[in-house]
Amino acid sequence: MANQDRVIFFDTTLRDGEQSPGCTMHHAEKLRMAEQLARLGVDIIEAGFPIASTGDFESVKAIASTIGREANAPVICGLARAKQGDIEAVAKAIEPAHRRRIHTFLATSDLHLEAKLRITREQALDQAGEMVHLARTFTDNVEFSAEDATRSDIEFLIKIVTIAIQAGATTINLPDTVGYSTPAEYQALFETVIARVPGAQDVIFSTHCHDDLGMATANALAGVLGGARQVECTINGIGERAGNAALEEIAAALMVRKDRFALENGIVMSEIGPSSQMLSEIISFGPAPNKAVIGKNAFAHESGIHQHGVLANPLTYEIMTPASIGVTANAIVLGKHSGRRALEHRLAELGHTLTKEELDVVYHRFTELADRKKSIYDQDIVGLLTAEPANA
Ligand code: KIV
Ligand code: ZN
Repeated sequence: MANQDRVIFFDTTLRDGEQSPGCTMHHAEKLRMAEQLARLGVDIIEAGFPIASTGDFESVKAIASTIGREANAPVICGLARAKQGDIEAVAKAIEPAHRRRIHTFLATSDLHLEAKLRITREQALDQAGEMVHLARTFTDNVEFSAEDATRSDIEFLIKIVTIAIQAGATTINLPDTVGYSTPAEYQALFETVIARVPGAQDVIFSTHCHDDLGMATANALAGVLGGARQVECTINGIGERAGNAALEEIAAALMVRKDRFALENGIVMSEIGPSSQMLSEIISFGPAPNKAVIGKNAFAHESGIHQHGVLANPLTYEIMTPASIGVTANAIVLGKHSGRRALEHRLAELGHTLTKEELDVVYHRFTELADRKKSIYDQDIVGLLTAEPANA
């Protein structure tokens, strides 16, 4: 019986994440990122797709022989199509790791079977069974993914998952490959498959969500409510097209909403900020400023009402502290929506304590400046102490 009290974090930043435009990483960068993922406490690192290139093979092998050999190292995993050559390449690349997983996948929607693979459902069933069986000859930790599961015929999906389990798969992934599902549908998919597949209670079910409709994190969490106990995700949500479910969003939701998800996990929350930062440096682009949890504005407040509240008690407008996820936030941003309290607070931080009358004068100058200037810096604020009003 698989542990139902814990959510396993399967990080695919170095595989699905790296597959997206602008996110390519060199060998040394992958190793650096993998070290950080280990510090972050992910359970499984999907280190790459070894058959794709010699470079990818070498990176997976290097991660397996360094990070994968340390005490309490994450499981090192590689991706393989349901093909003999792919599976053998993964087996070879992950061989040096203490704990290793082969992740093999086959599309299950008729659209993919007909247009892409050009095989029948019967052929797909045989191929899935044979390739999972082959993967099990190299490791007892085998994941089978039914690519495009959310657009697959449910009866066929149940058949192929049953065969994969009988052939020895220990994790079953039901990916929302094209970000098509809604949370209610995705939850129901897990409930149905888990209820109807023989032996489902002996394996771990996994979510793998893409963000094409902006629902990746919501879908991943819905999958957990439906019985999944592994989530596949990436740092900063990088990944094919609109990206994958963001690790930091799922981890933060599990932390903030413990009341809803009474489940443990191994993520070291204070490493979220450093992980996001490191990835942004490596791929030379960061998350959007308004990105949940790790965006530059995720803990920033500009309006007077919000600033007043946050200065009185941060919980008024923050559901977690930046420190709890290892982020140093510029909490109070001064702009044209800011009030006296925020200005007084910033001036005090800069070493200037003003009387009420002095503050009134400086606040008046501040509002005039903020109407003209989008970004107000500390030197602007200090300048206001002596400046003449603009219309003087
Ligand atoms: O999105 C997807 O279906 C995948 C599989 C290879 C798991 O990335
Ligand atoms: Zn994917």
